[in-house]
Amino acid sequence: KKIAVGIDLGGTKIATCAMDEAGNLLEKTELPTLAKEGPEKVIERMKRSVYEVLKRLDLSLSDIAGIGIGVPGPMDAKRGRVKNPPNLPGWKDIPLLSIMEEEFNIPVFMENDANAAAIAENLFGAGKGVKNFIYITISTGIGGGAITNGRLFKGGDGNAAEVGHMTINFEGPVCGCGNSGCWEAYASGTALTRFAREGILSGRKTRITDLAGQDEVRAEHVFAAAKEGDEFARELVEKEGFYLGVGLANVVNAYNPERIAIGGGLTHAWDMFYSTMVEVMKTRALPANVEHLEVMKAKLGTDVGTIGAASLVFHKE
Ligand code: BGC
Ligand code: NA
Ligand code: ZN
Repeated sequence: KKIAVGIDLGGTKIATCAMDEAGNLLEKTELPTLAKEGPEKVIERMKRSVYEVLKRLDLSLSDIAGIGIGVPGPMDAKRGRVKNPPNLPGWKDIPLLSIMEEEFNIPVFMENDANAAAIAENLFGAGKGVKNFIYITISTGIGGGAITNGRLFKGGDGNAAEVGHMTINFEGPVCGCGNSGCWEAYASGTALTRFAREGILSGRKTRITDLAGQDEVRAEHVFAAAKEGDEFARELVEKEGFYLGVGLANVVNAYNPERIAIGGGLTHAWDMFYSTMVEVMKTRALPANVEHLEVMKAKLGTDVGTIGAASLVFHKE
């Protein structure tokens, strides 16, 4: 029986896996994206990661049914192109699908990374069997994937559910996409660390500074400081929960999902922002849209992106 290879192209790493049709992970590998080096070098590493996974399993290309790729948006699904993702500087209209088809000569499928992850959580994770299901990732950016009536809602170009770029404040900070006041500019990991740095620069005394040391402030420093009781870090985490709740209220009103699963790096600190997030969502959404709603943490953890990408091969729509 043939297997699938899934590649999750991220801003910092290229994660690749081999998976069988039942969703079992057979092998996985990770390479740095090194986005600064530009698309050509990044794509070379993507190709290499596929060969690496096959080599480890002692398989050849004829053993795989296809390759699925999850890419940060925006994309052009009809032409198989990656447009100009905020988190992949230097990429502009890259025909990734045909490049990979030419290299491997097997079917290649491509979707937005969060859309692919939504499929994976819907098949094997927190959204199993849920017909109206939303997956949200909170990491470097904020992404969304919507399963409506049991099927992925793609939109005309594959860019439906780009919820990270909903405007939640029309006078807000500039987002990587060029707009100002996007949800992503308030509640992503990048936004959290930006708020932390701004506070430190304006003179706030905080443990975050000690914990980060010589490194750039990362979300994990903020959460660790908050756990120690640091006042400024606690404010930041509280604000994070608030902004997440505001965005979720919009998501809930737009899609009326039965369940929302949230994944991505920031969910490591789930317990610290969960209750504020849900409370704010509930006060702001239409009451009817939260009445039967469940909000939970995604189940597939760090593998959700690659499993999602691989799922594109078996569950093409
Ligand atoms: C992109 C989304 C993506 C998310 C997470 C956002 O900036 O617009 O397409 O899902 O980041 O990678
Ligand atoms: Na999406
Ligand atoms: Zn934006």
